[in-house]
Amino acid sequence: MGRLDKRIAVVTGGGRGIGRGISLVLADEGADIVIADIDRENAWDTAKEIEQKGRKATVVEMDVTNAGSVEAALTEAIGWQGHVDILVNNAGVVGSNVGGGAITAQDWDACYEVNLKGMWTVTRALVPHLREQGGGKVVNIASIAGRHGGAGLAHYNASKAGAISLTQSLAHELGPMNVNVNAVCPGLLWTDMWRHLEAAISGDDTPEVVDRRQVFERFIKTNCPLQREQTPEDIGQAVAFFASDAAKNITGQSLNVDGGIEMN
Ligand SMILES: NC(=O)c1ccc[n+]([C@@H]2O[C@H](COP(=O)([O-])OP(=O)(O)OC[C@H]3O[C@@H](n4cnc5c(N)ncnc54)[C@H](O)[C@@H]3O)[C@@H](O)[C@H]2O)c1
Repeated sequence: MGRLDKRIAVVTGGGRGIGRGISLVLADEGADIVIADIDRENAWDTAKEIEQKGRKATVVEMDVTNAGSVEAALTEAIGWQGHVDILVNNAGVVGSNVGGGAITAQDWDACYEVNLKGMWTVTRALVPHLREQGGGKVVNIASIAGRHGGAGLAHYNASKAGAISLTQSLAHELGPMNVNVNAVCPGLLWTDMWRHLEAAISGDDTPEVVDRRQVFERFIKTNCPLQREQTPEDIGQAVAFFASDAAKNITGQSLNVDGGIEMN
């Protein structure tokens, strides 16, 4: 018996990286998974891995920045097995990696549209279904970057601080509908996204001349009490907890999964 038997979870951005890890852990816990991603090819790769575990999986193409795409994808997701119980808002972008005042308006908008407004758009679109079925779980993937400001990634940091705040507001609004809303704040994971992050941390905005892995490891060694990087599966374990009945009386919380980099 898994903690999530008979549940259907929609994971945005589930095609690769952290979203893929979350999807695999939720499947291990007994859930069947809808991968909702802008990239269908990666999404099907994750879906096939889930099927190899003996669980069901499908793909819906979704651009979280487009309300029409979100509505259509969620209608398809609900129609798949007749219900959706868990929503994981994981899709995210970081944009270009530039310091100080050099962030472009385009990067700012992309971070805001995907990381913050996208989270709200997908949740809002699922609320009528969750209300009708008497409850559900929403887990937002924020970041330790949202815990405080820092040079280099103002647009990303602000979008993730917004995600933490949005989690609290939605927890207030959806609590009376028996919907728990919590967030996980990942620390540092060696995913595609990291290629954009590492130059900000190294202070070098020409990432092609930086040994990316070396910068990553140095940052972990200097800033992480447990001195090891986090994995998509680590994030998946925290999501599985929030999505389970064990967390039925927890809402509006944001949990750092970061080896102790942040302790607030
Ligand atoms: N990697 C890290 O160190 C780290 C740390 C903290 C938080 N996070 C957060 O975790 C989440 C996942 O990050 P990752 O490292 O796996 O990134 P990633 O770039 O490897 O994967 C992002 C996924 O989101 C999808 N996506 C992007 N834009 C989309 C859109 N408009 N609509 C639907 N899907 C879209 C992509 O296709 C991809 O599958 C993000 O929200 C990110 O901000 C990552």
